[in-house]
Amino acid sequence: MAAARLWVVAVAVAVAVAVMAAAVEGKSYNITKILAAHPEFSKFNEMLSKTRLAYDINRRQTITVLAVDNSAMASLDHFTLPTIRHILSLHILVDYYGSKKLHALSHGATASSSMFQATGSAPGTTGYVNITSHKGGKIDFISEDADESAKPSRYVKSVKEIPYDISVLQVSSVLSSSEAEAPVPPPAPVNLTELLSKKYCKSFAGLLAANADVFRAVNETKDNGLTLFCPVDAAVAAFMPSYKNLTAKAKTAILLYHAVPDYFSLQLLKSNNGMVTTLATASESKKDYSYDVQNKGETVTLDTRVVNSAVTATVGDAEPLAVYAVTKFLKPKELYKVVEAPAPAPEPSKKHKSAADDSSDDSSDDSGDVKAHKGAAAPAPLARWATAAAAAAVAALMLMA
Ligand SMILES: *[C@@H]1O[C@H](CO)[C@@H](O)[C@H](O)[C@H]1NC(C)=O
Ligand SMILES: *[C@@H]1O[C@H](CO)[C@@H](O)[C@H](O)[C@H]1NC(C)=O
Ligand SMILES: *[C@@H]1O[C@H](CO)[C@@H](O)[C@H](O)[C@H]1NC(C)=O
Ligand SMILES: *[C@@H]1O[C@H](CO)[C@@H](O)[C@H](O)[C@H]1NC(C)=O
Ligand SMILES: *[C@@H]1O[C@H](CO)[C@@H](O)[C@H](O)[C@H]1NC(C)=O
Repeated sequence: MAAARLWVVAVAVAVAVAVMAAAVEGKSYNITKILAAHPEFSKFNEMLSKTRLAYDINRRQTITVLAVDNSAMASLDHFTLPTIRHILSLHILVDYYGSKKLHALSHGATASSSMFQATGSAPGTTGYVNITSHKGGKIDFISEDADESAKPSRYVKSVKEIPYDISVLQVSSVLSSSEAEAPVPPPAPVNLTELLSKKYCKSFAGLLAANADVFRAVNETKDNGLTLFCPVDAAVAAFMPSYKNLTAKAKTAILLYHAVPDYFSLQLLKSNNGMVTTLATASESKKDYSYDVQNKGETVTLDTRVVNSAVTATVGDAEPLAVYAVTKFLKPKELYKVVEAPAPAPEPSKKHKSAADDSSDDSSDDSGDVKAHKGAAAPAPLARWATAAAAAAVAALMLMA
């Protein structure tokens, strides 16, 4: 009995260690670069970039991209860009299917969730893709809501496999789905000033409105996918002394830092972890200006390595624009000193005092567990996997006890 229990514990620990090792070894990928080596997919590749799906793919782990060649892409010519985004997001499966796994499907069939479904754009079960493995090795893909006349898209070949991060497979034709092909209504006109001034973010709206360059950049992006994190009025008030000290250039950068040029529904934020780049990244070519978006249970946190802010309310959410109120002003590591991981037994009263980082609004937020990636070479999401695996092992041990 005791021996059996011990054995289970040993396995749990071994699995956790294996997962940690795998996570640390895992590499990030760039779908644009992967496809660039294959000119027959240049149109597909171009559209992934234009629809910003390339960015979504690179942020994810464990993904399968169903690519079609240039001639098959012609069937998309008459669609608008937002509709093409929906259709192509159906070709991004949020699970890993290498050619080996496809050919060994149990019961010969499965259904996979796609990014169309995962982003919340698709109603009901549309956005699932049925995969069927036929005798003789032929494999078909068809969207679950495809009508009876639709022909399945056939597996052609494996283009690139990085187990179990990303698999790129060629399929014969664009998947047909009436939901994905439905015209996407143009975004309703949004008066940004009015939206931001409603609740929570009056002060931040004032800062944006006072900086013509920033306002123009944000206003121009809002129709093409924008997520704006606006610090609540109290956070802006607490940060003002420090803000006033910044140069004009740094003020512009820090305001742009709150704008992510992609649309994230709250559901997507909650189901995803990873780095996001910002409008500040685009404005200063050699600077990073990114931060780590994580979810802890139902809470979405933004870790800049200087401050850890959290989404506290949705101010507005209508694709392609989402505005969320956040608890703290986001301080980029490019402008403020990185807060090092706290000592094992932190003294709450005296820490993080530095010349550049002296506003008192963020000295109580470091929960310790999000600092795993400090100074490590591994990308943050991978480090977090490792942490999760370790936590799972601890949980397993506790269950055994
Ligand atoms: C991905 O690769 C493309 C082409 O090589 C490059 O232009 C782009 O900057 C890369 N993106 C990232 C995020 O590294
Ligand atoms: C996809 O699979 C589901 C469940 O097996 C089935 O109900 C549905 O009809 C399938 N759709 C298509 C288009 O084959
Ligand atoms: C947006 O709203 C603000 C405040 O309500 C108003 O002053 C401004 O004129 C509006 N702008 C446009 C373009 O309608
Ligand atoms: C913001 O963008 C809208 C178009 O979406 C435009 O009509 C409006 O004039 C812009 N506002 C400002 C102040 O530039
Ligand atoms: C602003 O800068 C001055 C001069 O460098 C410094 O003495 C002061 O502490 C700074 N204040 C804040 C709030 O950063």
